[in-house]
Amino acid sequence: MSALFSPIEVKGVRFKNRVAMPPMVTLKADAEGCVTDVIVEHYAARARAGTGLVIVEATAVESGAVWRGGLAAFEGTHAPGLARLAERIHREGAVAAIQLVHGGPQASVEVTDGKRVGPSAVTPPDDGPIPRELAVEEIEAIEGSFVKAAERAIEVGFDGAEIHGAHNYLLDTFLSAKYNVREDGYGGSIRGRMRMLVETCRRAKERIGDRGLVWCRISIFNKLEEGFGRDELQELAPGLEETGIDMLHISTDGTFKEHFDSGKSIGQLVQGLCNLPVIVAGGLGDPADAERAVAEGHCDFAAVGNAMYEDARWTERARRTLEV
Ligand SMILES: Cc1cc2nc3c(=O)[nH]c(=O)nc-3n(C[C@H](O)[C@H](O)[C@H](O)COP(=O)(O)O)c2cc1C
Repeated sequence: MSALFSPIEVKGVRFKNRVAMPPMVTLKADAEGCVTDVIVEHYAARARAGTGLVIVEATAVESGAVWRGGLAAFEGTHAPGLARLAERIHREGAVAAIQLVHGGPQASVEVTDGKRVGPSAVTPPDDGPIPRELAVEEIEAIEGSFVKAAERAIEVGFDGAEIHGAHNYLLDTFLSAKYNVREDGYGGSIRGRMRMLVETCRRAKERIGDRGLVWCRISIFNKLEEGFGRDELQELAPGLEETGIDMLHISTDGTFKEHFDSGKSIGQLVQGLCNLPVIVAGGLGDPADAERAVAEGHCDFAAVGNAMYEDARWTERARRTLEV
């Protein structure tokens, strides 16, 4: 009996298995950020292979917020293409979600016209131009853009909206003591630094209610050097759970790796801090590892990135390899 290929239900949404395609940009949207046929076929193929959860790539919540070729969900004109994409993923048998992003201090200079924004005016993670510090009203407005995009995604047919709080994009840089040196309520201690992510999750979930799932993705890479360790995780995980979100997605450089000198993997740590179902990505391209990750309790969903990007039929192959 395979743990990876066993079903799971989250708040009334049934997933036929625990295989997740994590968000991965294709950069194949048209000039306006609309869905193209190539994008539809890309996701359809991974759903058709039997993947339980398909999370569509990082999709911009505001104009000029990310990169050229990126998908967008901030205008009504984006809706028909997104509806077509969600419908197609469903038709191929998967649960459909979409990741929503603001690039912040890591948005491509090609689209921001040199006007990057961030928590603080400090050298950004990519060593590019220094961003302008966001005013509190602007923070609230961006949170509102996430909420609107999440609502649009659910209204066009997606089952879930994932708030991108990972990989040094806007919401993640707020978590960091290195990139966030604000002295107001959105900086300082972890309580302040996590405020924008927490407010965004709470507002999105409140707006969507039981019409769809809402969760967020965080990442654990250079966290210690960014002033984020075990104590911060201990605040963040329950803080996110309190917002009412339905799951937590963690991007790592190794699902089985020990984190924060705890003797535990990040999935095990987070599961000890909150009751949210957990998706974990990182190094699970070998079906045996994806199986082990779920079977040994490192995650509820195993997200397979690069390997599924390269091989549209990864899930089908995994099922055969594991003799399910
Ligand atoms: C081509 C490519 C594009 C990616 N785009 C995104 C993205 O849009 N959003 C995101 O959160 N992570 C993105 N990632 C990271 C993956 O979601 C995943 O976390 C990472 O590849 C680790 O999983 P793996 O070891 O199975 O590849 C991307 C990765 C790849 C290879």
